[in-house]
Amino acid sequence: MKKFNIAVIPGDGIGPEVIDEGIKVLNKAAEMDTSFQFSFTYFPWGCEFYLKNGKMMDPDAIQQLQEFDAIYLGAIGFPGVPDHISLRDLLLNIRKNFDQYVNLRPVKLLKGAPSPLISIANENIDMLFIRENSEGEYAGEGNWLYKGKSHEVVLQNSVFSRKGTERIIRMAFETAKKEGRSLTSISKANALNYSMVFWDEIFEEVKSEYPEVETSSLLVDAAAMLMVKDPKRFEVVVTSNLFGDILTDLGAAIAGGIGLAAGANINPERKYPSMFEPVHGSAPDIAGKDISNPLASIWSASQMLDFFGYKKYAQAAIDAIETLLLEGQILTPDMNGTSSTSEVGDRIVSIMERMI
Ligand code: NAI
Ligand code: MG
Repeated sequence: MKKFNIAVIPGDGIGPEVIDEGIKVLNKAAEMDTSFQFSFTYFPWGCEFYLKNGKMMDPDAIQQLQEFDAIYLGAIGFPGVPDHISLRDLLLNIRKNFDQYVNLRPVKLLKGAPSPLISIANENIDMLFIRENSEGEYAGEGNWLYKGKSHEVVLQNSVFSRKGTERIIRMAFETAKKEGRSLTSISKANALNYSMVFWDEIFEEVKSEYPEVETSSLLVDAAAMLMVKDPKRFEVVVTSNLFGDILTDLGAAIAGGIGLAAGANINPERKYPSMFEPVHGSAPDIAGKDISNPLASIWSASQMLDFFGYKKYAQAAIDAIETLLLEGQILTPDMNGTSSTSEVGDRIVSIMERMI
């Protein structure tokens, strides 16, 4: 029997509520298949921990997490702790130390999911965003000169290394090839005359090794427009850290909303643990009311099952979300329902049981 050790960081606000429901799904998959099981170890890190201890995580957090097969994270951030501290010291710290340089975000309109695009067919929104997750515009490099003076100057540098750019683009080509889908690169070389010219050049270089993959290159502003006007042209998409951040929120908006958006932070070499999390934050406005939507967290649990090679259960979880949406009976208030977080999770698990 294979055993996967998962580090769970429920985090702040609605994090713990939505994580509980994802864990139900992981346990259900393991219960239906006797060849594997999960063991969960909880870590109390986050903003409450910070207010007590002056830091977001234990000093040796990275060493502790290193031992695990994956990390399952709820959300981090709460009023009282500045967002740049909570985000940098916990989330970005983990992503960086574990070289999770791929951020995988599916943008797929499930049947029954709401979309603001009028009468769009479900199959026309089915993208996989592969966002660079380790450098680029979010490298944290820069300077603040003459701070507070009338002539102050702020510099925020982007970092695009050959290694970093090439590996994300190569990973996207591999994915497109494996899935038999087209690959779109999104950049902005007309305005960003160093970084994005470099990005485009590397895209062309790597492309020559994958003649079987159909490709296109778009400027980010045009891509934003086309995601709304003609979303079916996007299949596998590769882009930089900042552009990926913004476009995947647009993606979430056209494909069911923030309550359905999942993201995985992957170290493809599997040298370090990868991290699975819903895209949304800690939603302090609804925390503790048991009305948060757990579907994004369940989708990220499905990404974890897929990462471990259990495609059948990963798909079962997605199919269960689809069935639940089509039934339209047990939904949280953000989807115009009246059910609680745990009622949604329980329903998903019972649909999965019926399905397999
Ligand atoms: P948010 O995603 O927490 O909330 C935005 C809006 O969406 C709120 O009205 C919220 O109620 C709603 N919402 C979000 N998730 C929902 C769910 N599962 N079910 C129902 N409604 C949901 O973003 P916001 O308000 O900008 O940030 C709140 C805190 O979360 C901040 O401290 C921020 O830094 C942090 N944050 C953390 C992230 C992470 O841990 N990965 C990502 C984004 C924000
Ligand atoms: Mg974001």
